[in-house]
Amino acid sequence: MSSPRPITLPTNIGVRIAGVGAALPDKVLTNFDLEKLMDTSDEWIVQRTGIRERRVHEPEKGQTASYHGARALDAALKDASLTIDDLDLLVVATMTPEMPTPSVSSLMADHLGAGAIGAFDICAGCCGFVFSMNVAHDLIKTGRYKNVGVIGSDCLTKFADYSTYGRSTAILFGDAAAGVVLQATDNPSQGLLAQAMHSDGGRAKHLFIPVAKTDFFEQDDYDERKLGAVQMNGPAVFKFAVTTFPNLIEETLTKAGLSADDVDHFVCHQSNARILAAARDRFGLPEDKLLINIDHYGNTVAASVPLVLDELKKAGRVHEGQKIMFLAFGAGLTWGSSLWQL
Ligand code: ACO
Repeated sequence: MSSPRPITLPTNIGVRIAGVGAALPDKVLTNFDLEKLMDTSDEWIVQRTGIRERRVHEPEKGQTASYHGARALDAALKDASLTIDDLDLLVVATMTPEMPTPSVSSLMADHLGAGAIGAFDICAGCCGFVFSMNVAHDLIKTGRYKNVGVIGSDCLTKFADYSTYGRSTAILFGDAAAGVVLQATDNPSQGLLAQAMHSDGGRAKHLFIPVAKTDFFEQDDYDERKLGAVQMNGPAVFKFAVTTFPNLIEETLTKAGLSADDVDHFVCHQSNARILAAARDRFGLPEDKLLINIDHYGNTVAASVPLVLDELKKAGRVHEGQKIMFLAFGAGLTWGSSLWQL
C-alpha cells in the first residue's frame, strides 16, 4: 500500500475547529417499537450492539439529509459566533442524498441563503466526515479558504427494511446531522498532526445498497426483497472493524510520533458498542477518553463522528490545546483517521 506523497503547504496558516453543531430528528424509534415491526427483542439488540433507541427522519414532513444538515450547519455557525455570510466553502459527507443530483451541500447552502459559495459532497460511507475533515483542512492550509463548513448528514433509515427479513441491519441505523466550522488561524501549530484515508473496493460486497438486479456482486444472492435496502454481511464487517480500528489508531499515532496517552479524546464512528469497547481495551484507554453514545442514536453513518464531538463540546470537555483523534470505518469498505491539535 503506497503512502500519500509528502506535500509542502504554507506553514504560517493553522486550522481550528471554530464551532460544532448537531441536528437530530424528533421522532424516536426504540427497540420496543422494533419488537412490534419484526421478530426481534430489546435484549438481543442491546446485547449485540449496545443500541437502545435511534432517531428517524420523517420524509412526509420534508425532512431530508439537506434539511437536517442545514440545521446542523446553522448550529455550528452559531457556536463559532459566525453567520452564513462568513462561510466561503461547504463540504458535506453523505451517502443518502435526496437524489443523485443536486448535491446535498448545494441544497443546504441554498436553505441557509449562503449565496454562490462552493459546495460539494463527499461519499465515503461512515468515513465521509473524517475524509471531509482531512480535505477541508488542507484546502484551508493552501490559503484559499478561511471558513469552511464540514457537515456529516445521513438519513440511512430510508434504506432500512423494518421486517423480519431485514432485521439484522435495520436495527443498527439512525438518522442525524452534525459537523463543524473550520477556520484559518495565524497559529500554525493548530490543525492536523496526522491523517489516514483508505479504501478497498474488493470488499464492497460486504456492505452495499442494490437498486437493480445487476448490482449484486454474487448473482446467487439476488432476491427482489433486497432491492433498495442496505445489505450487510454483519460478521464480515464486524471482523474487519475489530482489527481495523486498533490498527488505524496505531498507524495514526506512529505517523504523529505520539502514544495513546497523548491523545485527549478518541472520537470514533459509532457502529457497535462491542467494536468500540474492544478498541478501548486494546489501548487500555479510560472510558472517558472514548465516548460511546450509540445507545441513544444507533449508527448515524457520516453524522456519527461529529455527533460524538458535539456531545463532548456541550459537556465542556473540548478545549484548545487538546489532541483529538477522529476515526471511522464503513461502506466501501473505507477506513480513515484525522488527528487534530486544537
Ligand atoms: N433480532 C433477533 N435475532 C436476530 C436479529 C435481530 N434483529 N438479527 C439477526 N438475528 C439472528 C440471526 O438470524 C442469526 O440467527 P441464527 O443463528 O438462527 O441463524 C443470529 O441472530 C446471529 O446472526 P448474526 O448476523 O451472526 O449476528 P451477529 O452476532 O453477527 O450480530 C450485527 C449482527 C449486530 C449486525 C453484527 O454483525 C455487527 O455489528 N456487525 C458490524 C456492523 C457494522 O459495524 N457496520 C458498520 C458499517 S455501517 C456503514 O458504513 C454504512
